[in-house]
Amino acid sequence: MNASAESISCLQSDIFSGTNPVQIIHGDVRQKLSLLPDDTFNCCVTSPPYWGMRDYGYEGQIGAETEINDYIAHLVKVFREVRRVLRSDGTLWLNIGNTYTSGGRTWRQSDAKNMGRAMSYRPDTPTGLKPKDLIGVAWMLAMALQLDGWYLRSDIIWHKPNCQPESVKDRVTVSHEYIFMLSKSENYYFDQESIKERTADGKSLKNKRTVWQINTESCKEAHFAVFPKALVRPCMLAGSPKGGIVLDPFFGSGTVGMVAIETGRKCVGVELKSDYVDIAKQRLLTVTPTLDLDFAEGNQTAKRHEPYITPSLSL
Ligand SMILES: C[S@@+](CC[C@H](N)C(=O)[O-])C[C@H]1O[C@@H](n2cnc3c(N)ncnc32)[C@H](O)[C@@H]1O
Repeated sequence: MNASAESISCLQSDIFSGTNPVQIIHGDVRQKLSLLPDDTFNCCVTSPPYWGMRDYGYEGQIGAETEINDYIAHLVKVFREVRRVLRSDGTLWLNIGNTYTSGGRTWRQSDAKNMGRAMSYRPDTPTGLKPKDLIGVAWMLAMALQLDGWYLRSDIIWHKPNCQPESVKDRVTVSHEYIFMLSKSENYYFDQESIKERTADGKSLKNKRTVWQINTESCKEAHFAVFPKALVRPCMLAGSPKGGIVLDPFFGSGTVGMVAIETGRKCVGVELKSDYVDIAKQRLLTVTPTLDLDFAEGNQTAKRHEPYITPSLSL
């Protein structure tokens, strides 16, 4: 057995034995996903690098393609692998926002509140578009994934009441992103009951709607947009049963892993940058499973106020 195969089988036994609820695979998703077995994960909750928005500072990074079609093609390929490793009843919950053309600017200054905005490059205006055009990149990706075989089931609007202010004077400020819910098959696992909302009079429950109003959260260690836990939770509750396994191929600061622990799921995250792996490990150590009788019964090793130790596998 070679080193990778050994690590993978260790990953599998760790995940399935329930001793380590979160595993981090350090490396490029374009290589690491291919090492994972078919039909493993109940759902995938993730947010890939956006096109031309963040400089993660490495050669060949996803999001730094000069052509938008190359960006879409790279992500379609990554999510084809995600589809392979999802169970046949699995779902993908994909967070992505639209962007604007750069208007000819070739770089972007950092700003004190958001260091990750600094860009040493800005992609050119895509062919067929003009400076100032809104690029419907979120929908381009959703349609490309649909064409690649995914079932596109929902476009959820993440409304951010505390969105970043914009200095633009000739259009309204962007205060939303999308979560696309896609499935591998026509029929799939979806626990509607677990995410029902209160009716306006507060007296009963109704099916969850497609506009989710959730504030953004900052993470002092990470210079990129982290998921608010409240955004991840409904995706995970609806998309996986307790004890299920969730994948985040762009793990960042590990928010999906934190919510997995809190809700009694297991999680595998892939992250390219070692400093982000370290941030994720630190954040995961602070999480305790929420008081939840089922989960406590299902996992005899989980003590309610004891953080999990989360080792990282370097595959
Ligand atoms: C938008 S951030 C995800 C943030 C995450 N949802 C959180 O809550 O922290 C995207 C992440 O993908 C990582 N990434 C970018 N390209 C990658 C690649 N090729 N393989 C693995 N991770 C990658 C970046 O380093 C970054 O941490």
